[in-house]
Amino acid sequence: MFELKLEKNWYDAIYRRSSVRKFAAAPDKEQLDRLGVLCRKASWQGVTLRMFKGPGLKGAIRGTDVYAVIVAKRGTPMELEGYMGEALVLEATAMGLGTCWLGAGFYPDVIHRNVNLQNDEAVHCVIALGKVDALPEFKPKRRDVQAVCGLTEGQLGELGAWQKDAVLAARLAPSAINQQPWKIAADKASVSILERPVLYGKFAPLDRGICMLHAAVGALHAGREAAFKKVDGGYAMRA
Ligand SMILES: Cc1cc2nc3c(=O)[nH]c(=O)nc-3n(C[C@H](O)[C@H](O)[C@H](O)COP(=O)(O)O)c2cc1C
Repeated sequence: MFELKLEKNWYDAIYRRSSVRKFAAAPDKEQLDRLGVLCRKASWQGVTLRMFKGPGLKGAIRGTDVYAVIVAKRGTPMELEGYMGEALVLEATAMGLGTCWLGAGFYPDVIHRNVNLQNDEAVHCVIALGKVDALPEFKPKRRDVQAVCGLTEGQLGELGAWQKDAVLAARLAPSAINQQPWKIAADKASVSILERPVLYGKFAPLDRGICMLHAAVGALHAGREAAFKKVDGGYAMRA
């Protein structure tokens, strides 16, 4: 499941990315072309990523009118939307662009018209993309490692390098109103991204998909390619 060729430079992007809401300009033609390539790669099994330039974003986003729309066919696990969308976010970050996931910050009627949305399709999120003078300082507010996975960094390291890099990268995933609706279980053979109940759960499966991509990119950094399998309450990765 979740087939996508991961890029090694996405790991550094995880440790540089923060949401950007004020941009310097829209991406240029060359950048749009490169983002378009990624959108095609990340469109898989019921999820399609499409780039647009023009109206559609609400006023909280300034300085760019470029965004990607994630279109999902009915019945597609929402985790896949997060997984593929975050691939675009990390690619854009690696290119030096700013990004912001938006679950509320867009006009659905405009977006639905743009993508010619069909009855068996839905748009849950779009991603704003644009140039920045500099990426914001990297100061992510996240739950402690031990609160997230029940282990210290040292204990994670004893399990293995890939488990440690996977969990630490997964912990940094962005999520709707930063709720981090996941708990992570790590052992000698696997790292699992599991449900954690939160107050506002509309985007929780999508958030966990983002977290899964971070985990896979972390494992790759330690030299392991990961495969995800559905398990009770989430997805387990073996590398
Ligand atoms: C699924 C999803 C939906 C989001 N929706 C919005 C939104 O509508 N408006 C907004 O300003 N930020 C939105 N965000 C950005 C989050 O608020 C942000 O990722 C989180 O607070 C963590 O901060 P960071 O991305 O700077 O690390 C969304 C993020 C995700 C993952």
